[in-house]
Amino acid sequence: MLLTRRKFAIGCGAFASSAVVDARFGFGDPAPAGTALPIPMLIDAAKHGNAVNLKAMSGRHAFIEGKPTVTYGYSAPVLGPVIRVRRGGEVQVTVENALDTVTTVHWHGLLVPGYNDGGPQQLIRPGENWRPVLKINQPAATLWFHPHPHHDTARQIYMGLTGIIIVDDGSDARLNLPRTYGIDDLPIILQDRSFDADGTIEYDNNELNALDIAYGARGETIIVNGAIAPIAQVPAGLVRLRLLNAANAQNFDLRFKDQRKFHVIASDGGFLPAPVTVTQLVISPAERFEVLVDFADGKAVALETGPDEEMGAFGRVAPDGSADYVAVMQFEPTSTAPLVKRVPNRLIEPETANAASAVRRREFVLDSGLCASRQQAGSHTDMPALIGINGKAFDPARIDVETRLGTTEIWEITSIGMAHPFHVHGALFRILSVEGQPPAAHLAGWKDTILVEDKAELLVAFKQPAPREHPFMYHCHILEHEDAGLMGQYICS
Ligand code: C2O
Ligand code: CU
Repeated sequence: MLLTRRKFAIGCGAFASSAVVDARFGFGDPAPAGTALPIPMLIDAAKHGNAVNLKAMSGRHAFIEGKPTVTYGYSAPVLGPVIRVRRGGEVQVTVENALDTVTTVHWHGLLVPGYNDGGPQQLIRPGENWRPVLKINQPAATLWFHPHPHHDTARQIYMGLTGIIIVDDGSDARLNLPRTYGIDDLPIILQDRSFDADGTIEYDNNELNALDIAYGARGETIIVNGAIAPIAQVPAGLVRLRLLNAANAQNFDLRFKDQRKFHVIASDGGFLPAPVTVTQLVISPAERFEVLVDFADGKAVALETGPDEEMGAFGRVAPDGSADYVAVMQFEPTSTAPLVKRVPNRLIEPETANAASAVRRREFVLDSGLCASRQQAGSHTDMPALIGINGKAFDPARIDVETRLGTTEIWEITSIGMAHPFHVHGALFRILSVEGQPPAAHLAGWKDTILVEDKAELLVAFKQPAPREHPFMYHCHILEHEDAGLMGQYICS
C-alpha cells in the first residue's frame, strides 16, 4: 500500500476527552464466533426473464446466537440478494416498500439515467412499489444497492439494507477467472456493529451525538455477510472475493494473518489491466475490490483488519478495541478439487481517459465540521465550519453543478477534518492524483468512490443524463456525514 498515513490530531477539547466516548465507540464483550459464512441468495436476472423483485422489509436476525434483534433486509431478514445482470440486458426491477418508513433504492455504481438512480428524490412510500427498467451497459463489475432517503440513509443501511449487483459481460469465462458463485466466487460484505448485551443493534436518529456525526457510527464487532467472524470453506485453489465495504464509516485495512500475497483484479468500475499483487488493502466505505487468493497450500488462514488510522485518536484501535490487527473471518481450504488454479497475467484494458480533453475544473471542499478542521482549512478558512461541501450543506432544492453529457471534467476534492470517502453517482472517474502522487496501481482503474485524506484530482466522465427533477448526487460515503449534509447534486444534459 502506498497510502501515506496522516497522523491526525484532534484539537478540540470536547472531542479529545475519552469520557465522551459513547456506546457506539465503546468496546463491549467479544461476541461468540465461528458460523459458516452466509452466502446471500443469487438472483440471476436472465434466468427470471430479466424481472427482479425486491421487497424492503423488516425482520429479525440473530447476529449473536439465541439473541435475535430487529433488522431490515431486501427480501430477507437482513441484507439482500446478489443480483447478477448481463451487459446488454434490460432488467425490470420491482421494489416493494414493506417497511413502515419511506425509503429509496440506489444502484451504487450502476450507470443509469438520473430518473432510475434511486437517489433521495425517488421516494418509495410504505406500501408503494417503484418499477425502474435498468438498461445494463457497462463492463463487468461488482456494484451494490442500498437506501438513500435523506437524513435516514445511515440508519436504514445500519439496520441491514444492503445488496450486491454483479455485472457480467462474459469476460470471467474468457479470462478463466473463478466464477462459481458461493464456491470460488464469494461476496464479502464487510460491516461493523455495536451490540447491546441482549444482542440487539440500535440506531436512533434522534440520539446521535456530535461524535457519532463527526466520526460516523462505528461498532466494536465486525460482521461479514451479517455473521460475526464466520468461516468460509473454500477449494484448495484460487478463490475470488468480491469485497464490499458497506460499513457506515469504518475503513478496513485488510491483510491475511500469514501476510500472504493476493491479487487485486478489479475495483469499483471493473477490471484492472493486470492483477496487482498486494499483501495489504485499505477499503473505505462503499468501495469494492475483487481479489484472487490462492489457497493451494491447504492451510487455514484468517483475514484480518488493522486499526483505522484515518479517524485519528479514536481510530488507533481495531474495531474490537485492540491496537493490533483483529480477525475478520477465517478461510478453511477443503479437499474439493480447485476449479481455477492460475492467476491470469493480463485482464481487461480499461477504456482510456484523457485529462487533456477535460472541459473544466471544479473544486469541492469536504468539511465534516470538526473544530480541528479550522487549522487544516488552509486557504479555505473563509468557509463556515459546518458539515457540507464548499461551505454549503445539502439542499434538495439547489442544483450545485451542471455538466454536459459526453464530456469529462477534472474534479479536485479536498478533505477537511478527516479522510472522507467521496462518491459520485451516475459517472465513473479515473484518479489523476491523490495526495499529489499518481494513484497506486490498484486504484488506477475506473472508480466511483475514493478515500481522500487531503486532496485528490479526478477525471470524471459524464455519460448518463440527469434532469433537474432527478439530479445525481455526489457525497461523502460516511453515512452520518452524508445524512448531515455532506452532499451536493449535479445535473447532466
Ligand atoms: Cu452508495 Cu449516494 O451512494
Ligand atoms: Cu465524510
